[in-house]
Amino acid sequence: MKKHALITGGTKGIGKAIACSLGNAGYDLLLTYASDDDAARLAQENIRQATGAEVQVLKADITDMQSIDTIQSFLTKHTIRLDALIFNAGLTCRDTFEEIKPTDWERVFFGNIHFPVFLLQRILSQINKGGSVVFTGSAMGIYPHSVSLAYGVTKSAVHALVKNLVKFLAPYQIRVNGVAPGFVDTEWQKTKPAEIRKNIENKIALERFCDPAELAEVYKTLVENSYFNGEIVVVDGGYSYK
Ligand SMILES: NC(=O)c1ccc[n+]([C@@H]2O[C@H](COP(=O)([O-])OP(=O)(O)OC[C@H]3O[C@@H](n4cnc5c(N)ncnc54)[C@H](OP(=O)(O)O)[C@@H]3O)[C@@H](O)[C@H]2O)c1
Repeated sequence: MKKHALITGGTKGIGKAIACSLGNAGYDLLLTYASDDDAARLAQENIRQATGAEVQVLKADITDMQSIDTIQSFLTKHTIRLDALIFNAGLTCRDTFEEIKPTDWERVFFGNIHFPVFLLQRILSQINKGGSVVFTGSAMGIYPHSVSLAYGVTKSAVHALVKNLVKFLAPYQIRVNGVAPGFVDTEWQKTKPAEIRKNIENKIALERFCDPAELAEVYKTLVENSYFNGEIVVVDGGYSYK
């Protein structure tokens, strides 16, 4: 029987690279996204051609509780049972501490924490025994973030969530792990000014950003290795070694 993976934010960047990796490993894919329909269609076609996987895309914004219904209904309608669930989509707010508004603070907490918790709660019965959940944390959940307080705090909470969820998912025979990437060369990072990118590279022992494809292999290992459970794997190229 074909295995299925759901990847939130799976049409670009890290999520798209994970989709390619799992597609090559024999998974059919459901990829969610926020708003960019053209990029979603292109990703669908590219990943299908590159991997031979069946790829479906679904607009489901993680800032909207309604998206939980959208995803659950889609799985039910297409009788999809999941073997892998990758929480990848994430939000930030770069307003200063002095300026950030409660609504923006709440939006980041909602998208990074509340949404995955309540999506997982809703679709738990649609995940197969032996299945695997992987969250996307961040090195900025370990080293205090210099710009976005809400981002750093929510990514720390993602790491804590993984550890706590182990106990709640064990009765369902579902494993849960997290990846804490450092700086990965996606649109998110490419839009930063060259000078800031250089400063970042100067702090990394490997002196370069991570390629999304090399990060994606870590997700695949967490999905496929049957003894990883409750782990946060830091993939930052040696961020603190320089
Ligand atoms: N890049 C890094 O250096 C880095 C480092 C550590 C952790 N991370 C984490 O890795 C994850 C992915 O980052 P990335 O760099 O790959 O981002 P990206 O290249 O900007 O890709 C974002 C993907 O997520 C979707 N997305 C964005 N906002 C969404 C929303 N509100 N609801 C649903 N989907 C949404 C996008 O859909 P649309 O195209 O429709 O907007 C797209 O598919 C995030 O959780 C981020 O915090 C990234």
